[in-house]
Amino acid sequence: MSNRLKVAPNDLSAFWMPFTANRQFKQAPRMLVGAKDMHYTAADGRKIMDGTAGLWCVNAGHCRPKITEAIQHQAAELDYAPAFQMGHPIVFELANRLVDIAPKGMEHVFFTNSGSESADTALKMAIAYHRARGEGSRTRLIGRERGYHGVNFGGISVGGIVSNRKMFGSLLTGVDHLPHTHLPGKNTFTRGEPEHGLELADELERIVALHDASTIAAVIVEPVAGSTGVLIPPKGYLKRLRDICTKHGILLIFDEVITGFGRLGTPFAADYFDVIPDIITTAKGISNGVIPMGAVFVTKDVHDAFMNGPEHVIEFFHGYTYSGNPIASAAALATLDTYKEEGLLTRGAELAPYWEDALHSLKDEPHVIDIRNIGLVGAIELEPIAGAPTKRAFDAFVKAFERGALIRTTGDIIALSPPLIISKGQIDELIDHVREVLRMVD
Ligand SMILES: Cc1ncc(COP(=O)(O)O)c(C=O)c1O
Repeated sequence: MSNRLKVAPNDLSAFWMPFTANRQFKQAPRMLVGAKDMHYTAADGRKIMDGTAGLWCVNAGHCRPKITEAIQHQAAELDYAPAFQMGHPIVFELANRLVDIAPKGMEHVFFTNSGSESADTALKMAIAYHRARGEGSRTRLIGRERGYHGVNFGGISVGGIVSNRKMFGSLLTGVDHLPHTHLPGKNTFTRGEPEHGLELADELERIVALHDASTIAAVIVEPVAGSTGVLIPPKGYLKRLRDICTKHGILLIFDEVITGFGRLGTPFAADYFDVIPDIITTAKGISNGVIPMGAVFVTKDVHDAFMNGPEHVIEFFHGYTYSGNPIASAAALATLDTYKEEGLLTRGAELAPYWEDALHSLKDEPHVIDIRNIGLVGAIELEPIAGAPTKRAFDAFVKAFERGALIRTTGDIIALSPPLIISKGQIDELIDHVREVLRMVD
């Protein structure tokens, strides 16, 4: 461990922390100084089990040697290459490798640096696609209540998490939202895909009837809504959305920033649900969370619509200084190697039944009002304290960290999504931490 890591910072005020209760944190900081495989090391030397794969991204576990070495090697060989009008071989290799594992029909990849950038890239692509094909009136974007597509203006406009939207003005115009699919009472304590709620997809027909299909470019949804607290689509829901989009010439975008790269026990959620969208957004697990990277996958149809006009002219006026950065590309290639060697993109399927039983063993613990699971994702919803929503879950989060487990909370929901290398024994350990914490909080 370097000396820098051993020394506690003496002033925490300069860093304005993202999505953090800054004042609370700075009174009682939770510092991580190391990580290996399934565990973090806290500043006081304690091992903390990672129940959330960092932020749903460290799918292969921490500090994996192949990824570390690839980054070290690449940093010494070609640190940066301009992303526009220039190339470097590794990013082309990476695109090919990604297309090889992508759901059928996804033939091209556009690189970004985050999930937020992937979401906004996909939305821009959808509008530009229709215009390129002579349907420039298709500009409307349809998202979903409780959806999360990052924090940029496009993403929060189609997103549906109120606290992420309400402070930021009128957002993009020409956006509408599907209803969310959470049906408490009907689907409570469902294991896997809920029985009720397929008809909620038909709301898309109502939106189309209101605006007319000729004005709608795309529908964007998370196949499994993650950040809002793990909402699993009702049986048949995504297929129905696909059918309605196809019928009306609307592009379907799956935001797979969380579900991509093995989270559900298949490489992508599109594989799990056997529904192929027109565009898939990814980030996080693409580089094991180690270095910022995102990728937007598109079909040949979407890509080819742009490939017209004079050949010397840029086809899509969009991109980032760091799109396909060599070091990020090397990290992503090593990540894909690690996933392949250890079968991690499908390991979740083997563990899912064990994971499901373990999660649902919490059903009769204090405060629990719902449990949801799919692949290696789970949510435990708690009864909010009257007049103090989110407090109970936040207390659970703090107590879990003190006990030695990193969990994630959103509202009064505990969300779990461990690295895909987790063992059955570690699943038991993680769930026991949650059980103890539920018994401790008021
Ligand atoms: C579905 C989805 N889309 C987009 C994002 C935004 O990703 P980032 O934080 O990398 O911008 C997230 C992050 O959690 C996400 O879950």
